[in-house]
Amino acid sequence: MNPHHIRSVHARRVWDSRGRPTVEAEVMLEDGAIGRAIVPAGASKGTREALELRDAGPRLGGLDVMQAVGHVNGEIARALAGRAADDQAGLDQALVELDGTPAKTRLGANATLAVSMAAAHAVAASLRLPLYQYLGGADACLLPMPQIQIFGGGAHAGRRVDIQDFMIVCPGAQRFAQALEWTAEVYRCAGELMQARGPRCGVADEGGWWPDFKTNEQALETLVAAIERAGFVPGSEVAIALDVAASEFGHGGRYTLGLESRELDADGLSELLLRWIDKYPIVSIEDPLAEDDAAGFARFTRAAGHRLQIVGDDLLVSQASLVREAAAIGAANAVLLKPNQRGTLTETLQAWQAAKSLGYAGIVSARSGETEDTTIVHLAIAWQTGQLKVGSFARGERMAKWNEGLRIEERLGSHASFAGAGIFGRSR
Ligand code: PGA
Ligand code: ZN
Repeated sequence: MNPHHIRSVHARRVWDSRGRPTVEAEVMLEDGAIGRAIVPAGASKGTREALELRDAGPRLGGLDVMQAVGHVNGEIARALAGRAADDQAGLDQALVELDGTPAKTRLGANATLAVSMAAAHAVAASLRLPLYQYLGGADACLLPMPQIQIFGGGAHAGRRVDIQDFMIVCPGAQRFAQALEWTAEVYRCAGELMQARGPRCGVADEGGWWPDFKTNEQALETLVAAIERAGFVPGSEVAIALDVAASEFGHGGRYTLGLESRELDADGLSELLLRWIDKYPIVSIEDPLAEDDAAGFARFTRAAGHRLQIVGDDLLVSQASLVREAAAIGAANAVLLKPNQRGTLTETLQAWQAAKSLGYAGIVSARSGETEDTTIVHLAIAWQTGQLKVGSFARGERMAKWNEGLRIEERLGSHASFAGAGIFGRSR
């Protein structure tokens, strides 16, 4: 008996932070060790993402995942029984081959990723190692710079504002724990500013304050005011990161800013963003243009890429081949890494390896539909991306990740390092 060979694989339906069904998998090894993982779900998805298999039909808005659960408990469980779980690349390759389609359209990326992650957790449990150390070895000591949402917008807030994420990063913080503490202050002060404007003060899907603004730029002004109210120097201590998520409001080179009843072409949107970069302490912009506009993305990167980080999410969908294509035309200088965009840990890691070798930065990211699963925190540390995006500083499914990072920083003790301000220098 090999202790790290798979004895059984089991999936069940659980529920995510939007109250929607999702897939949880458990992998048991021959030595009895168990690993468990839950798959998240996006709302503003890239069209080239691997398929999240949903059942359609009248129940649960067509969002049930019983087919994906059935695939894990049937085909996948049978195929993986007896396989070595400690060969993550081999295991993931077996999942890719079993599915046999380019975008996991047969078994579902929610089925394959749940098993891919659960297997890693099982081996880590067997070795009595935290996941980041099993996957990353002794070098996995770099705590990521958190990108934390203060105002949520776009598809996560009923399109109340067009821009999806108004986030902060803390280049002046010395440690991960300090970055979280500073963020807590800014989040609290932003809440006070919102309350002062009126009684409505709820939160969006990822926990950011509900974006009750007249223009997109008003959110930026309020964010700077919140940073100052919290006692920090905008820019050097606490800076701004945006996820424009432009694929949500732009197609075929036309972009409609619904909040401002304005229509722009790619150059018009780029000029607007460049004005904001001049005026506000912005150090990172994600998806400034739509996924169908790689040429516009490249023009924007030429205009601004020497000044700040330009992140491809919908454009790159955590896929190594798309990272290489983007690099060939100079689009983006950083890749967002969401394991459920590809459907296995290994393929997501391959996107990061391709990106890193091309000089791109990397950010491991949650989805807007999340759970208590904290795997991505371990991935950010194991893969030494130096950056992690999880949503806001509220709601249990977000705080589970930030709090896991605190535990890891404490466990690493004097071995821990923190990405700090230098992380944004890479792209300058
Ligand atoms: P999603 O949004 O999880 O809804 O796709 C997150 C993002 O765009 O980064
Ligand atoms: Zn995004």
